[in-house]
Parts: sequence; structure tokens; C-alpha cells
Amino acid sequence: MVYALTRRVSHTLAQGELTFLARQPLDPALAHAQQQTYCDWLRHQGVSVLELPAAAALPDAVFVEDAAIVLDEIAVITRPGAASRRPECASVAAALEAFHPLAFIRAPGTLEGGDVLRIGHTLYVGLTTRTNAAGIGQLRSAVAPLGYQVQPVTVSGCLHLKTACTWLGAQTLLSNPHWVDARAFTGFDILEVPASEPFAANTLTVSDTCLLPASFPRTRALLAESGYQVQTLDISELQKAEAGLTCLSILFTANQ
Ligand code: GLY
Repeated sequence: MVYALTRRVSHTLAQGELTFLARQPLDPALAHAQQQTYCDWLRHQGVSVLELPAAAALPDAVFVEDAAIVLDEIAVITRPGAASRRPECASVAAALEAFHPLAFIRAPGTLEGGDVLRIGHTLYVGLTTRTNAAGIGQLRSAVAPLGYQVQPVTVSGCLHLKTACTWLGAQTLLSNPHWVDARAFTGFDILEVPASEPFAANTLTVSDTCLLPASFPRTRALLAESGYQVQTLDISELQKAEAGLTCLSILFTANQ
């Protein structure tokens, strides 16, 4: 069974961390409605959605992906680089321990799930303002015995590695070449997002369908022309809080 762990939008969402975007007015009710439509889309793909309740003290907690890396054998609970986000991890750990053994990133390590791009048994991990070398080293120690390789990737100009680059399946990545050094991905074909849509590289592929924010029509056309089955979703209100599609869920497979 494929699961998605999600968390409902808090009415405090507008108070969350912003790194590369200017703060602007945000309607939490609209953000909630968009997040619920996202959950419905996952259900439509056959995913079992597990929803954590909103947490008023944790404005960014809807971006649940950052709190854990879930593999087939283990869940690694992160230590977010944004100190305000560290209290998000306890409830995510509590939800995941029913499915997998847990490992934990400890100080001085920092790691956020948005920086971890899994392709098979390789974890590409962005070195960013949120994820440091110590965190990457601890992740490697946790997953290497399970047969995973960890490959650091230099990222600049955006929040997370997966803001800059996501996997479309097989040997293809969608990337913004200004934010990530494609040489880290030797052997892959790279589709580049149009310059007018720099944030479009964060896609979510489930059951061979590639989900893209509705705000990126040129990237949608590029993906469709390249043979991908693309669907779009309006997450415009969530994007004001620096959301991407991947960060709204933790997708994992478990036997339960
Ligand atoms: N607002 C999302 C983050 O900065 O973590």
C-alpha cells in the first residue's frame, strides 16, 4: 500500500519561514482548500492519505515532507535547519513509528526532507541553508547499511534541492539549471524548465502521472510534448508560503 502522510494547514500559515520570497497577504482558508484538493488528488491516484491535525504553533508544519525521509526499511526523522520547524518532528515520528523503525538526525546535523531526492537506491541530498554536511553524513550512516548511496549536491539560489530538481521517472530529471549543478546527475537526461517559470521544477509523480502547479503552463506544455501524462493543481495560496508539491506530503510504501 502507498501512503501519504500530510498535515492540515494552520491558520497561522502566513507567519511561516520565508527564505527567497517576499511576504505577502495570504488566505489560510484558501490554502486549506487547496491542500485538501491535493489530498483528494492523491486519493484519486490510489494513495491512502494519513492526515495530521493542524498545529497553530507550527505555521510551516503543512510542509510535512521536511520532517522525515521514509524509505522502504526505515524512517529518518530530520532536524530541520530552520529552528522554528524542529518541533514539527515529534508528531511526524509518532505517526511513522507504526510503519518503520526510526533513526534520528542529531545536532549539529541539520537536514530537511525537501533536500532529499530519492532515485532508486541513491539519495541525492542538497547542501543548502537548511541541510548541512553533518546532517548528510548522519543520513549516510543511517541508510548505507540498507544499501543506499548518499550523494551530496550543491544548491544555490533556492530553498531546497527539490525546488530545483525532481525526478520524472526512468532516466529523466526536470531541473532549473541556475539553482543546481546538473553535473551531480551524471547519466540522466535533464529537461530544463523555461526561464520564465523558475519554480516549476518541483513536480510530484504518482502512478505515472506528473502533477505540476497550475501556475506553470509553459512547463506543462514542455512535459506534455515530451510524452509525460501531466495534471495540474492550483496551489497558488500555498506557494506564497514557499510551498512546492512534494513538500505537502511524505509518500511511502508499507505492508500494513
Ligand atoms: N515556508 C517553508 C519553509 O521555509 O520551510
